Amino acid sequence: MDERRVENVAASFAALIAERRPSSIALSGGSTAQQCYEFAATLEYGWSGTTFWFGDERFVPVEDPDSNEGMARTVWLDRVRARSVESMTGAGPTVETAAENYDARLRAAGGVDLMHLGLGPDGHTASLFPGSDTLDVDDRWVASAGDELHPHPRLTVTYPAIAASTLVVVTVAGAEKREALARVRAGDQSAPAARIVAEEVVWLVDAEAAG
Ligand code: 6PG
Repeated sequence: MDERRVENVAASFAALIAERRPSSIALSGGSTAQQCYEFAATLEYGWSGTTFWFGDERFVPVEDPDSNEGMARTVWLDRVRARSVESMTGAGPTVETAAENYDARLRAAGGVDLMHLGLGPDGHTASLFPGSDTLDVDDRWVASAGDELHPHPRLTVTYPAIAASTLVVVTVAGAEKREALARVRAGDQSAPAARIVAEEVVWLVDAEAAG
């Protein structure tokens, strides 16, 4: 497990983008992701060669404060000139249709160069939640997800889509992630994030989460 302890997860995330120069990036949601995107938006970097995708999304309008796309646009995407932004929530009129359409588009693209994922305190990543049927999906790259514990119907990449990424970057910050990270290190398969597999997976972890 390529775990890198860093001073500032957001700065390290941005530095990795500047170093690897991915032509496609799949974005995540949450507060750690928001800090990463705020930092990335400050880079002196030509984004016109970058296509942005989403690794998961709450199926709400982009204007909804819970929208991952809305967050990413506000702090980053609408401040730069990207090649394109592939909206997950805009991929279809229903969550199922959006999942089918996004699945087809992401497969046609052959996956992404860089997939950004977070880690939930319960060990989830993207919207792959513990015990969910979505964890067993192996014939789709995008599936509808969500359960009564988490707000809104959701869309998420599945493990095959994660595995199709050239580089996966998982950002983990804060003491509340310490237990989940320890489970991942121990290979606890009940933690969805422990099952992240791809050509290269880099964990950017701050001191509080590293323990
Ligand atoms: C989502 C995110 C989710 C997030 C983790 C970490 O849509 O909720 O994709 O997987 O990345 O829950 O979120 P925090 O950084 O806010 O703890």
